Amino acid sequence: MCSTDTLMAFLLFLSFSLIISLSSGAGADTITANQSISGDQTITSKDDHFTLGFFKAGNSSNYYIGIWYTKVSTVPSTVAWVANRDTPVRDRFSSELKIIDGNLVLLNESKSQIWSTNSSSTNSVIAVLLDDGNLVLRSGINSSVNTWQSFDFPAHTWLPGARLAYNNITETKTLLTSWKSTDDPAEGLFSLELDPIGKQYLIKWNRTTQYWTSGSWNERDKLFTLVPEMRLNYIYNFSYVSNENESYFTYSLYNPAIISRFIMDVSGQVKQLSWLDATSQWNLFWSQPRQQCEVYDYCGAFGSCRESGLPFCNCLTGFSPRSQTDWDVNDFSGGCVRKTELQCGRTSERYGFLRVTSAKNKPPNSTSLAVGSSAECESSCMNSCTCKAYSYGSDGCSIWDVELQNLSEDNRNALTINVKVASKDLPSKKKNNGVIIGAVVGSVIGVVLIVCLIWFLIHRNRSIGKTSVEGSLVSFVYRDLQAATKNFSEKLGGGGFGSVFKGTLPDSSVVAVKKLESVSQGEKQFRTEVSTIGTIQHVNLVRLRGFCSDGNSKLLVYDYMPNGSLDAHLFSSNKLLDWKTRYQIALGTARGLVYLHEKCRDCIIHCDIKPENVLLDADLCPKVADFGLAKLVGRDFSRVLTTMRGTRGYLAPEWLSGVAITTKADVYSYGMMMFEFISGARNSEHGENGKKKFFPMEVANVLIDGGDILTLLDPRLDGEASVEELTKLSKVACWCIQDDEENRPSMSQVEQILDGVLDVNMPPKPRALQLFVENNDDVVFFTESSTSQSSQAHSNPSSHVSQAKSAASL
Ligand SMILES: *[C@@H]1O[C@H](CO)[C@@H](O)[C@H](O)[C@H]1NC(C)=O
Ligand SMILES: *[C@@H]1O[C@H](CO)[C@@H](O)[C@H](O)[C@H]1NC(C)=O
Ligand SMILES: *[C@@H]1O[C@H](CO)[C@@H](O)[C@H](O)[C@H]1NC(C)=O
Ligand SMILES: *[C@@H]1O[C@H](CO)[C@@H](O)[C@H](O)[C@H]1NC(C)=O
Ligand SMILES: *[C@@H]1O[C@H](CO)[C@@H](O)[C@H](O)[C@H]1NC(C)=O
Ligand SMILES: *[C@@H]1O[C@H](CO)[C@@H](O)[C@H](O)[C@H]1NC(C)=O
Ligand SMILES: *[C@@H]1O[C@H](CO)[C@@H](O)[C@H](O)[C@H]1NC(C)=O
Ligand SMILES: *[C@@H]1O[C@H](CO)[C@@H](O)[C@H](O)[C@H]1NC(C)=O
Ligand SMILES: *[C@@H]1O[C@H](CO)[C@@H](O)[C@H](O)[C@H]1NC(C)=O
Ligand SMILES: *[C@@H]1O[C@H](CO)[C@@H](O)[C@H](O)[C@H]1NC(C)=O
Ligand SMILES: *[C@@H]1O[C@H](CO)[C@@H](O)[C@H](O)[C@H]1NC(C)=O
Repeated sequence: MCSTDTLMAFLLFLSFSLIISLSSGAGADTITANQSISGDQTITSKDDHFTLGFFKAGNSSNYYIGIWYTKVSTVPSTVAWVANRDTPVRDRFSSELKIIDGNLVLLNESKSQIWSTNSSSTNSVIAVLLDDGNLVLRSGINSSVNTWQSFDFPAHTWLPGARLAYNNITETKTLLTSWKSTDDPAEGLFSLELDPIGKQYLIKWNRTTQYWTSGSWNERDKLFTLVPEMRLNYIYNFSYVSNENESYFTYSLYNPAIISRFIMDVSGQVKQLSWLDATSQWNLFWSQPRQQCEVYDYCGAFGSCRESGLPFCNCLTGFSPRSQTDWDVNDFSGGCVRKTELQCGRTSERYGFLRVTSAKNKPPNSTSLAVGSSAECESSCMNSCTCKAYSYGSDGCSIWDVELQNLSEDNRNALTINVKVASKDLPSKKKNNGVIIGAVVGSVIGVVLIVCLIWFLIHRNRSIGKTSVEGSLVSFVYRDLQAATKNFSEKLGGGGFGSVFKGTLPDSSVVAVKKLESVSQGEKQFRTEVSTIGTIQHVNLVRLRGFCSDGNSKLLVYDYMPNGSLDAHLFSSNKLLDWKTRYQIALGTARGLVYLHEKCRDCIIHCDIKPENVLLDADLCPKVADFGLAKLVGRDFSRVLTTMRGTRGYLAPEWLSGVAITTKADVYSYGMMMFEFISGARNSEHGENGKKKFFPMEVANVLIDGGDILTLLDPRLDGEASVEELTKLSKVACWCIQDDEENRPSMSQVEQILDGVLDVNMPPKPRALQLFVENNDDVVFFTESSTSQSSQAHSNPSSHVSQAKSAASL
């Protein structure tokens, strides 16, 4: 007995002392003169936001000193800064980070100095990791003077409080450079830097070729002219400072509880990401350039970039990656090399031309040649040892004596570039004929097969439903849907999640078949999700009849709605919905959303409410389409922004603030749509002189200041509307679009008001919104009329935090 007690006490003591020693190790945020960091040792900032220590980059076996987020639970950790980008170590246990002669230095396995802060101070210093992610050198515990700070030497991450700067005295820049690849933090080719003259920031390739710019800073509106979506910015407070010594951009977060960062990504795009606890993911909600192939020379020399294909980069025929291992980790910058070198002057090794027929634009650094025909252009190139490619077009003959860079292709362009390739690497003519004959024979067989298949389908008739699985849903075979839609020939529309085609099933019922784009889920998850959607049935929701999952092809089969989508009725001149019908559609749509939000087993947020997604059946009864799909394709903000291009006017502001989305986002979109029910025009539509007032604003003004509500009505209705209903709908719409989601009604409140069960009070006065219409793009953006209001909206961090919880149900 006694001995066990002693043992217990001893064990207790042991574990206690273990805890003490661990916490003293992990709690420190400082490296003092006599300490060093080695192996698994780390220091952590005071409030545990950031940790500094050795980390391993991707799948490489190299170790680097870096700073990573402590509270962001990604595997591997999210690294915000790297010290020895170009000089990794292999063995972190025999390497040391320590202070020597006023500098923080990294010693490698053989105790050679391979990295140093290089500050000129020789005083004794300490290194402190601060909670904003900045590592600073100070001359004493209480000193506030930094002799060096990591914020002045960023890697690929721009943290809040750090600066993108130009020093006018030393003429140096503080810039972000991408990692070389996901496995290698060495400086890559892409950089984000300040242009002090243009007051803008630029993305450059190899520090020279600029391929994106933010446009100049507009101090009055606090935004960059070519980034108009900043009007929708509810999280970043940018500022630009310029004086005779320096110029810089910096930013802070209105809501310090949000974890957010900018990175210069290995993809060559600058990205804004916010951490969402609820989904344990970094949410991308803004990136530029938007298209991968707009990144200069993304695929390297003789590589070709295709936006539609994955991977984006492929080598031209006759070429192969210069480094397959780089290529495998998505580092395409090395480009491609010829499989067979061109042997100049040797006739035995002849060459021909590879025709690249759909280049998007001419690769740079060509020279023009004054010749009169395509044949002459070709022979000039053929006879020149240095010529690598030629093109002949409306601007005459162009010759490339350099490697072809920045090549991208799509199916819309007809620019042909002829690349000189060794004959043996070219697809031979004979083979071509073979291919053509093969294709002809193949298509004849194909037609016969399709005829047989149709015959077969007609004769087995209803047996198609036999494969029924989950509940009432039918699991279709891809071939059957291909046949039903006549090989996807009759397109009904295309939404954010994919294109929709009309089809006729063997039992002659008409369906709408949706081909989903980029489903991010695995097979099992997809089936689970689809069967959930299948159980959701309501008179105001489009019914899902079945689905098809065949490899990468994921299709959904819905009831066909003969009257198409609401936008065609609201905004077209030859169809006119009378007021009574509009009101009923508003009510029906609200009922459909109430069902989604509150009556289903799992609450479903639609995420994309707009007239295009409200379909009308033969009796003009509204049915909400596309619900449940946001979860299927994942919540990638950039996708949301891209696919909603042109309809961003329906997006609630919280989509851009990085906080979780709740059902109130649908309420906002619904409200925006209600204004369009009233006016019969898009909220975003320009007036005759391009200066029309923003319609929701006009409605709010009439409601608040008083005025004839009928002046707001769609003029085509000639004043034929119930003033009571019109007033009700206007008030509801204003209530729905309140900036703060807490001030918006729920969909069931909306339903009750429209039903006349609940009275509507005058909604809180909406914040002053200013109309802003982006050139060449009918998108509406909003901005607060004064910044004091905006700071007020963000003074309540706890409300953002509590909202984050409900995202789990999305
Ligand atoms: C560091 O160690 C040296 C000798 O080992 C000692 O003289 C000095 O006081 C120590 N410095 C601190 C800050 O502890
Ligand atoms: C590491 O390798 C694994 C397996 O090859 C791969 O799935 C993963 O994406 C790689 N990670 C990185 C960061 O390259
Ligand atoms: C340490 O760095 C020195 C200087 O760069 C180098 O010569 C030496 O090989 C390195 N030691 C190891 C073990 O890599
Ligand atoms: C510090 O200076 C040395 C020598 O001038 C140089 O090789 C090294 O790259 C510098 N290190 C940093 C981090 O700037
Ligand atoms: C630093 O400041 C604290 C209180 O502000 C004080 O107690 C401490 O003595 C100071 N340390 C030094 C080294 O000056
Ligand atoms: C980038 O520029 C440097 C010279 O500034 C040049 O040596 C290097 O080859 C360039 N890199 C590429 C991939 O073209
Ligand atoms: C930078 O310094 C030069 C002289 O050193 C001065 O002419 C110029 O105006 C300064 N730039 C800014 C933005 O103040
Ligand atoms: C610019 O630097 C000089 C010399 O360090 C200093 O006197 C001056 O106040 C600085 N100007 C500004 C605007 O900070
Ligand atoms: C690179 O190609 C893109 C099209 O893919 C084009 O828009 C851009 O202007 C090109 N850049 C240069 C410098 O040629
Ligand atoms: C090639 O073209 C780019 C972009 O137009 C230009 O910056 C670069 O200087 C050119 N290189 C040569 C060698 O002419
Ligand atoms: C935005 O940043 C500027 C400069 O850092 C600061 O003065 C201002 O108070 C900030 N505004 C808000 C609303 O936080």
